[in-house]
Amino acid sequence: MAESFLFHPLDEATRRNPYELYARGRREFPVFAHPGLPLRVFSVFRHEDCQAVLRDDETWSNVFRIEETQLQSDLAALDADFGEPPPPSMLGTDGAEHARLRSLVNKAFTPRIIRRLEPRMHEIARELIHAAVQRGSVDLVEALTYPLPVTIIAEMIGVPSEDRARFKVWSDEAVSVLGTGFFGGLDFERLKRQRQLLEQMRAYFVPLAEERRRAPRDDLLTGLVQAEYEGSQLSLEEMLSMLVLILVAGNETTTTLIGNAVLELLAHPDQLARLRADRSLLPSAIEEVLRFSSPVQFDPRRATRTLELRGHKIERDDVVLCWLGSANRDEALCDRPHVFDIGRERTAHLAFGFGVHYCLGANLARLEAQVALGTLLEQTNSFERTDDSPLPLHPSPVFRGVTSLPVRLTSA
Ligand code: HEM
Repeated sequence: MAESFLFHPLDEATRRNPYELYARGRREFPVFAHPGLPLRVFSVFRHEDCQAVLRDDETWSNVFRIEETQLQSDLAALDADFGEPPPPSMLGTDGAEHARLRSLVNKAFTPRIIRRLEPRMHEIARELIHAAVQRGSVDLVEALTYPLPVTIIAEMIGVPSEDRARFKVWSDEAVSVLGTGFFGGLDFERLKRQRQLLEQMRAYFVPLAEERRRAPRDDLLTGLVQAEYEGSQLSLEEMLSMLVLILVAGNETTTTLIGNAVLELLAHPDQLARLRADRSLLPSAIEEVLRFSSPVQFDPRRATRTLELRGHKIERDDVVLCWLGSANRDEALCDRPHVFDIGRERTAHLAFGFGVHYCLGANLARLEAQVALGTLLEQTNSFERTDDSPLPLHPSPVFRGVTSLPVRLTSA
């Protein structure tokens, strides 16, 4: 019976090790109706089903109607204080609107442009890891996994990387409540704080955008400003939403991926030794971390019509959570899905999503993680956890990752 399946995505023990529950979900409850939530929410555990949902963007929307929840009046009060809410980023749009927004930034993420960033990634990673090795014991999140992606993204956008402490505050706050609303845990005070921070971001970016209008440079901000001017395709508000998305999507996720890579290699010393002996395995090792310990655990969608899903009647506006972390461990996806094998043949994992919203920064994230890990191996003889205590989890249930990772490093 469905009642005997206790799957609470906010429960700490579940978040630390969701894999047995995922496996049971895939076997016995491939579509699970969450009881007792303010919204009608269904979890989907199988690879085949997650992929089918993400592929069909007519039936499954990425626009969520938060105003239909009990928070409606609270949010109206926020709008009274802060004015109209910002327009959704491309992630929160569908169809032609999504295609229009995506096409405006697409060209900044082509494989050629990303490859051009590689020497700079090596430079930053070497500096950061050199400093970390000098210190001996560091929190790897502070020392490497956070500053590398944020510096790259700041340079891509064209803002001073000295401002990255500020980006961390914005980015942490923006993602802290991500996904909690589906489980009835949306905190009004946090939402209010987010709106305040958005005002700060606006105050920060508007003068920079004005500056680019006067004096264009070779950066993403100039590209966005020009996109706005040419045929007024991108409004200022849309541009701000885009910057917030890129800043946040580009940071937290990649930080998490690099941290998860270090954690999985420490948990699997044979695979770490294998990688030290053969660095050509770096790309497949990162691919395996993406599959095995996926930074983004679930990807939500809203039904646009009534339908049936594995025996469940889904009504219009019901929410489906595609558990990417489960799909990527599906027995139907690959052999021995619970084995961490850095030499595994490429799988059709869903760590970057699937379909029209497929991650725009996938190539960037892959390369950054390869450079970070490769440099760490190059500049150290060993790295290890300083103690065995449980590490603090990322506050959002969307993410699988830790916010602090104390390690001891010995120089190569
Ligand atoms: C390990 C790192 C990353 C992971 C696991 C990841 C994961 C994802 C996933 C699962 C989606 C799909 C969301 C959906 O279907 O609703 C997505 C979309 C997106 N990602 Fe990433 N991401 C990562 C890194 C990045 C980076 C570095 C950037 C940019 C600098 C980025 C930018 C975006 C954008 C803009 C979207 C929205 C695309 C759209 O709506 O068309 N991501 N990402």
